[in-house]
Amino acid sequence: MAIASDDFRFIAELIREQAAIVIEPGKEYLVETRLGPVAVTAGLVNVAGVVRELRAKRAGPLLQRVVDAMTTNETSFFRDLQPFEHLKERVIPDLLERRKAERSLSIWCAASSCGQEPYSMLMMMRESFPQLQQWRVQFLATDISQQMLAKAREGSYTQLEVNRGLPAPLLVKYFHKKGIEWQIDDSLRRAIDWREFNLSARTWPGMGPFDIVMLRNVMIYFDLATKRQILANMRKVLRPDGFLFLGTAETTINVDDSYASDVLHTACYRPKAA
Ligand SMILES: C[S@@+](CC[C@H](N)C(=O)[O-])C[C@H]1O[C@@H](n2cnc3c(N)ncnc32)[C@H](O)[C@@H]1O
Repeated sequence: MAIASDDFRFIAELIREQAAIVIEPGKEYLVETRLGPVAVTAGLVNVAGVVRELRAKRAGPLLQRVVDAMTTNETSFFRDLQPFEHLKERVIPDLLERRKAERSLSIWCAASSCGQEPYSMLMMMRESFPQLQQWRVQFLATDISQQMLAKAREGSYTQLEVNRGLPAPLLVKYFHKKGIEWQIDDSLRRAIDWREFNLSARTWPGMGPFDIVMLRNVMIYFDLATKRQILANMRKVLRPDGFLFLGTAETTINVDDSYASDVLHTACYRPKAA
């Protein structure tokens, strides 16, 4: 059954209010296909039933499931490759030198989906910078989706998921077969602090300071005002000599001019000197 336009508007406003995600008119099919299964799980007849419940009570597990379902969680191991090369060739060597006195590094994957991005970084670091095992490395990975965080924490991936971007030697070295899935080693799972975090929160108390932040392929879902607010908050939690990675289709240009591109053709940015 097609969603009523009133119900579509309600869901679009709700998702914008809760997660800052913009759902444009014309995306009715998206709401129907994403919320159909939520209705079934909640024992409701259809999406109209979900909307009715949420109009009566804008809180609780149903609201969380609806927000969760409306997030887009597309990701893969070593996605786009080039940012991981840049981390390996320039960013981490630079930080190893700058932080050699305190021997500590703080990393945040700010929209980590089901974990491939932080796990890719960790594997690359273990392979190329074994000396970091002797450093204090704080690795935080966050997402708004509780379902994605649960999967990331579990670290279990299908054959299809490991086929996407994970080099065979790393699969063999860091995963073992568990039933029909591939289970990542506990030492990698435990190296990451997985937490729920909503990037659209007005302020970010208790966050940072970070040396590296991955904020990739999430700002595309937000409007300009939200992007500006996030980049302003990011300035406060990123060290003045830190590195911020965006998705390849994302930029700070014309959004927040207090960042400068680190190297041309890399979606890596650094705070401009104050
Ligand atoms: C397309 S995935 C990107 C995953 C990964 N960074 C990558 O580039 O492969 C976008 C992620 O952003 C999360 N997200 C969407 N809105 C968010 C918000 N307001 N706060 C935090 N995370 C959010 C989604 O749950 C989803 O997992």
